[in-house]
Amino acid sequence: MDTKDRRFLDRLASKNISRRDFIRYSSATLAVASVPKLTGCATYQPRQDCQDQLINGLDRYHENVFEESKIGSIRLNNRVIRSATTLGLGDPNGNPTKELGDAYAELAMGGVGAIITGFSIVQKNGVPGIPNALLIDQDDQVRAYRKMSEAAHLHNTPIIMQIGHAGRQTRRAITGEKPVAPSPVPDKVYDEETPRALTDLEINDIIQNFIKAIERARDSGYDGVQLHVAHGYLLSAFLSSDTNRREDQWGGSLENRFRIVREIYEGARKRVGDYPILVKVNGYDFQSNGMRVEEMAQIATMLENVGCDAIEVSSGIANDGFATSRVPEIPTEAILEFHFKYKDSPYIVKKLLPVFAPLLVDRPEPIYNYNVCAAETIKQHVGIPVIVVGGIRNLHDIEQIIGRNMADYVSMGRPFIIEPDIVSKFKEESQKSSECISCAFCLLALAEGPTRCFYGEIS
Ligand SMILES: Cc1cc2nc3c(=O)[nH]c(=O)nc-3n(C[C@H](O)[C@H](O)[C@H](O)COP(=O)(O)O)c2cc1C
Repeated sequence: MDTKDRRFLDRLASKNISRRDFIRYSSATLAVASVPKLTGCATYQPRQDCQDQLINGLDRYHENVFEESKIGSIRLNNRVIRSATTLGLGDPNGNPTKELGDAYAELAMGGVGAIITGFSIVQKNGVPGIPNALLIDQDDQVRAYRKMSEAAHLHNTPIIMQIGHAGRQTRRAITGEKPVAPSPVPDKVYDEETPRALTDLEINDIIQNFIKAIERARDSGYDGVQLHVAHGYLLSAFLSSDTNRREDQWGGSLENRFRIVREIYEGARKRVGDYPILVKVNGYDFQSNGMRVEEMAQIATMLENVGCDAIEVSSGIANDGFATSRVPEIPTEAILEFHFKYKDSPYIVKKLLPVFAPLLVDRPEPIYNYNVCAAETIKQHVGIPVIVVGGIRNLHDIEQIIGRNMADYVSMGRPFIIEPDIVSKFKEESQKSSECISCAFCLLALAEGPTRCFYGEIS
């Protein structure tokens, strides 16, 4: 034991915890932490082989990345998209603010191929654990949203509104309301919510709300919408057999689990014709009975058949910690500062957490380009464009992904927070790698106010 550890144990003793108790508690914590790994629910490993291909690729494909292209009727300036990233800039009524318009203008000036906005919620009581979340639940919001699309269009950049419903990841502490539609599943407890099954009436209501939101996005001048069908939110919870345990027409077979998405598409197509409707999905989600890339490939074909314009491939469940936005190191400092579960913890927990965090917190690997193999598999099943997001950080990798046809587009989230002009820098080759260190402090601090880069430090 080195002197640092010894000093730590001495400090524990001074807090009236004996070394024996410390060892006892540690062993219990270790055992509990190992259970998911022992029972196999954390063992799903997506294929990685194409990652090596990508890393070792030497050919240049610069022109392929920076050529113009189209997704449906949307003309993109290049193949690097800004993935949906909540900026925490809604007003207290869920309307977009001038500051949000300024942020989109800055992104548009920075040369991005297209902007996908952070998600706007289709109904008031479907808000996730983010204060100042955007809503798209009223017709009179169109005026405020129109200013957002104008900000991007002024700089010749298409803008796509992501819309969603937080489902079981809705937080009562934020909404102050009883959640109407937490989940298709009655029996799993997440955070402070207890999900319950939706009624038929509620499901139909949600479908109509999605359709109305799509019309509002079109009326606000957005070039398209993206349905949020990823990260454990409502629509992705319907698709996954881990969360969807229903035995009616909305659960069971793949066709039934897909029904809610199908009905949104069918209803929307009657109202908005061929207005672009994209989706963001999970290629896989690390849940024991959850989404796997083979099943998502089948869903991708179903999406193409219902008229989906492009599929963005992500992974993971937001409530699982770092499954959606991966980290090279567990950001304990930020967890203790910002996470609603830990920020008010007693002194002793705050001291122990950094020691046990690596065991208690799931930190999937790899950290970079982690959805590329899933996207490549999905792309083999569809003719519509496939976008890949997740740990993409440098020009070399982007060129390989596009040039080797692993995906049609790449998208990034965190890099645009620190460098809204990263795409221009890549294009000019004045910079070949993002400054983003993937610390995910930005994600942990979402409840604190407008999104910003912490660069791995609480300041
Ligand atoms: C601060 C923050 C907010 C995010 N908000 C959203 C969101 O609104 N919708 C969404 O689909 N994904 C959201 N994400 C996930 C990102 O779109 C992206 O999938 C993830 O961060 C991995 O990409 P990256 O490694 O390029 O950041 C968010 C991520 C961060 C860090």
